[in-house]
Amino acid sequence: MTRRPLIAGNWKMNGLAADGTALASTLAGKMKGGSDHPFNMLVCPPFPLIGKVVDAVAGSGIAVGGQDCHMAEKGAHTGDTSAWILKDAGCDYVIVGHSERRTDHAETDETVKAKAEAALAAGLRVIVCIGETLQQREAGQTLEVNRSQFQGSLPDGATPENTVIAYEPVWAIGTGLTATPGQAQDVHAAIRAEIKGKLGDAAAEGMRVLYGGSMNPGNARELIGQPDIDGGLIGGAALKADDFWGIAESC
Ligand code: 13P
Repeated sequence: MTRRPLIAGNWKMNGLAADGTALASTLAGKMKGGSDHPFNMLVCPPFPLIGKVVDAVAGSGIAVGGQDCHMAEKGAHTGDTSAWILKDAGCDYVIVGHSERRTDHAETDETVKAKAEAALAAGLRVIVCIGETLQQREAGQTLEVNRSQFQGSLPDGATPENTVIAYEPVWAIGTGLTATPGQAQDVHAAIRAEIKGKLGDAAAEGMRVLYGGSMNPGNARELIGQPDIDGGLIGGAALKADDFWGIAESC
């Protein structure tokens, strides 16, 4: 099975309505300007922009996602958003377990798994993020940390259709430091081996594993060219239409 690359933009806490809709409309125009693109494209704006971005990309094939969701369907959780609300707003995906959420909101693997399971129950596809810190890498714990986060965060019921893994080394996020293609490939291969052990050969063949961390149009081709790297989860470079599109074109 060939895995179709996913080029996913995580806008994080950036963009007012005018910026977000302009960016989404430009991408939609580029997407509609060609046919048979060899990738899927996803943008994940801040929650209040989701409706506007859904409208801006309508008919282009670009999917929209949330950056987080609560583990419950509804209730007294001030400030949180449920997977069901995201789905209702027009989202197809949600990111869970981003390192910024694990750090800023003390999210554990257990929390991330519960959120991912809520996402699947709501009918969303989920992007589960994992990745080691610089300290863990320097201590030689990279593979062990990623294996353990994968095992702890993977939702029950995960399939290649509903679940994407994103390997984001924390030290490469927003720093301009990118994992070398070899460093990234080593971790991606280890993650694929974990998928195989847990879900079997077909799931390991089909499940996409994205790389994230200072990906840009200059380094994307070599990263995405690695056998186990199936696209990118892109932060800074996803805020500029030309850069994000340039990454997609490297597929
Ligand atoms: P940067 O591309 O800005 O390093 O961010 C990566 C990321 O965290 C995407 O989720």
